[in-house]
Amino acid sequence: MAILLLALLLCAGSSTAQDLMSPTMDILAELEKLKNMGERMQKLEETLTKVLSENEALKTLVQDSKNELETVRKENEAKKVAFSAGLLASGTGHTGPMDDEKILVYKKVFSNIGNAYDSNTGIFTAPVKGVYYFRFYAHSHGGRTMAVSLLKNGETQCSVHAWFPVSNGNGSNGVVLSLEIGDKIHTHLWKNTWVYDDPESYTSFSGFLIFPL
Ligand SMILES: *[C@@H]1O[C@H](CO)[C@@H](O)[C@H](O)[C@H]1NC(C)=O
Repeated sequence: MAILLLALLLCAGSSTAQDLMSPTMDILAELEKLKNMGERMQKLEETLTKVLSENEALKTLVQDSKNELETVRKENEAKKVAFSAGLLASGTGHTGPMDDEKILVYKKVFSNIGNAYDSNTGIFTAPVKGVYYFRFYAHSHGGRTMAVSLLKNGETQCSVHAWFPVSNGNGSNGVVLSLEIGDKIHTHLWKNTWVYDDPESYTSFSGFLIFPL
């Protein structure tokens, strides 16, 4: 009985192996196809990765260009610096004399492009490193000395002086200065001297950036 069973099993086994042989060939062919497909997918994936990374690089490039453009735009904006102001916003009168030097605060702002001049303090603060031109004009009535200086960070650069003019005095000076960001420019009245102003704006202060450095 056992022998018969074994024989049957052997028969069945060999016929099963025979039956399976051709499907196995098919599977191998399919596997080969899959393998090829896999390789193609792999290549496709590599290409995609490459395209994506190139796209990423392009995006970065575009962003960098945008940033650069923004920087240039901001720099250009900062390069627009010019102001002009008369001493009195309205009315007529003398400023001074004082026991001490007095910063002249020019109140009638004609222009202040870049807002570098502060009409509350009379001080101009350089917004960009560059070469600037400043000039001031002072007028006074007679009988008392008129003297005004222009200072950079508290140090006198140039001045005007009229020693007890008989009827009235006028003086003007200007200077080209190389400034760092934050350098401060203002004018002051010497002690015991005066200046005069009225709606004609005889006494004034102006400055502008010639070129950045
Ligand atoms: C000073 O300037 C004013 C305004 O231009 C003028 O009227 C006056 O005559 C000048 N004074 C002198 C002493 O030149």
